[in-house]
Amino acid sequence: TVEPLDAVRFISNHSSGRQGHAIAAALVKRGARVTLVSGPVNIPDPLGVAMVHVGTAEQMLAACEAALPADIAICTAAVADWRAREWVKGKIKKRPGDTAAPTLSLIQNPDILAQLSSHSQRPGLVIGFATETDNLEANACEKLKRKGCDWILANAVSTDESDGTVFGNAQNKVLLMTGNGQEDWPLMPKTELADRLVQRIIHTIGAVNAES
Ligand code: C5P
Repeated sequence: TVEPLDAVRFISNHSSGRQGHAIAAALVKRGARVTLVSGPVNIPDPLGVAMVHVGTAEQMLAACEAALPADIAICTAAVADWRAREWVKGKIKKRPGDTAAPTLSLIQNPDILAQLSSHSQRPGLVIGFATETDNLEANACEKLKRKGCDWILANAVSTDESDGTVFGNAQNKVLLMTGNGQEDWPLMPKTELADRLVQRIIHTIGAVNAES
């Protein structure tokens, strides 16, 4: 998401939106009806989805809630954790002779994954992502519990351009954590990871339906 500071400045991050778009496309390919809520990205909308473009975390939460009820929610977005307490309608001016920089006052954004996980219309399967720079397993495990989702796909990001796991890259390497265990998936293109996740979902939902 993009959180404005004034008319021309904002807080955001390097997420490309590619993984979420790839998952939406993979779900469509397997016959799902998909609503894709996306922050501002530089990639085309996947074919066959109901597209909702948003800017801020608050807009994203509202769009996700409006998309309920749904069987599955997959939260891949790099939602900005904080936004400006107040944002200025015009441009904050740097005046000649100013020596001090303005102080930014931030407040927390809503946690969309956590809110969907505890929603009265909670989807049957809620999946989140966790981007970590260290302690991948422990942080992902803690996040799974704290956010109340069913699965977490944890990916280690690096700032080393040579290892293929840089934020915004076309490849991804994840650890899938479910309540029952974990699977280490190898580095693969985001499109392939999307197909694999959708297969995993179909397998799980098929097993649940077969039981009931
Ligand atoms: O806490 P952290 O940002 O690492 O958690 C990542 C997961 O939580 C992702 O699935 C992301 O989409 C979701 N998230 C969210 N709302 C936020 C922050 C993260 O839905 N404000």
